[in-house]
Amino acid sequence: MRRTPAASWTWRAAPSPTWWATWVRDEVHDSMRVIGLMSGTSLDGIDAAIVDFEGTAEDSLRWACKGFLTVPYTWAQRELLHRAMTEGGPAQLCEVHGRLGEWFACAVLEVCRASGIDAASVDVIGSHGQTVWHQPPSDRERGFTLQLGDAATIAERTGIAVVSDFRARDVAAGGHGAPLVPWVDRALFRAAGSKRALQNIGGIGNVTWLPERDSRDELLAFDTGPGNVLIDAAVEMASQGRETFDRNGQRAARGKVSELVLAQLLQHPFYGRMPPKSTGRELFGRATVKDIAARHPLQWDDLIATLTALTARSIAHAYRRWLIPRGLDEVFVTGGGARNPVLMDMLREELAPIPVLTGDALGIDGDAKEAVAFAALAWAHMNRLPCNAPSATGAEGPRVLGSFTPGRL
Ligand SMILES: Nc1ncnc2c1ncn2[C@@H]1O[C@H](COP(=O)(O)OP(=O)(O)OP(=O)(O)O)[C@@H](O)[C@H]1O
Ligand SMILES: [Mg+2]
Repeated sequence: MRRTPAASWTWRAAPSPTWWATWVRDEVHDSMRVIGLMSGTSLDGIDAAIVDFEGTAEDSLRWACKGFLTVPYTWAQRELLHRAMTEGGPAQLCEVHGRLGEWFACAVLEVCRASGIDAASVDVIGSHGQTVWHQPPSDRERGFTLQLGDAATIAERTGIAVVSDFRARDVAAGGHGAPLVPWVDRALFRAAGSKRALQNIGGIGNVTWLPERDSRDELLAFDTGPGNVLIDAAVEMASQGRETFDRNGQRAARGKVSELVLAQLLQHPFYGRMPPKSTGRELFGRATVKDIAARHPLQWDDLIATLTALTARSIAHAYRRWLIPRGLDEVFVTGGGARNPVLMDMLREELAPIPVLTGDALGIDGDAKEAVAFAALAWAHMNRLPCNAPSATGAEGPRVLGSFTPGRL
């Protein structure tokens, strides 16, 4: 990491000459290697990306992804997480917090090994953690959100400093604490002459609308509703737990969309709510699918096709209402949903003639984007840059996000 003392801040020497003690708070960091860690709503696994950054400002930031992998959760790990999230008491949540810290540390060491990169060359880890509860703010009440995955354990096992708990500060400032990726989208993917929508389809769907590079317009971003989470839950129920997702949309391709059920599902108040808005498993999860299956006795594959159409249609509805009126030239889909050809075809049909592309067209592995984003948010923390987008989260203003845990001294 190359470090430049900031003109207006006090320069202090690093406390130790060793590589892991290189971070000093009052500095500007113009070259940094960061590992981003993400464990999303789908509970499919831990994404880890190694990203090199050059520059100290959002407008001049350059980046290169040097390695990426997903460490899939085992069935037992997923069930532990799922139980803790739905019925966990303090003991279970505490256990999950520590265990996730261990698993995240393993993912860090694994991505370094697989990429041939020495962990000692990594300056900092940006860890999103695993959301166990997300309650957006309402007219009457502030929001509550909690991500687990003990940063001290990650730092202890890897020797690398960790920035974590990115959402808390935005929530404390009156925001949703989500989505946080839009600031990164603007920094990395804004383009001259093009109004873009960057659509992530993970467990939940979220979109960032970006104006042209030189425009003064604000970005707009929000959660669109379920991404894969309802499809995954239906596949699990249909297969009695043998399958965890609809691989390549095979079941949806066999099934028939029930327009009647789809129209009813689209009545959910979340879809009509004005942005900023965010959601999670609390509104869309296994319980939702159990409830839908009980009320609408469809064949499993028909239900899966209908839930796939729900994801596509809810995204398209949101675009028609809030994005297309601002102008929209191209859409880029990332996250696991981009691997589902039935879902992608439905989305293309809904949005035609606007081109619907994938991460490749952006120059990024679509599976890596969220992990790269949390690396970028750690980079911003280290440079003391506010990195929430208040127009997306609804926070009172820009805030520096994250809590810092030092590496091994
Ligand atoms: N080949 C595939 N065919 C169909 N669906 C797929 C395929 N590969 C992945 N998926 C879907 O993508 C999901 C995982 O996506 P992803 O990792 O982007 O979500 P996530 O972990 O919830 O992340 P986040 O919350 O950060 O967006 C899986 O649960 C599955 O539903
Ligand atoms: Mg995932």
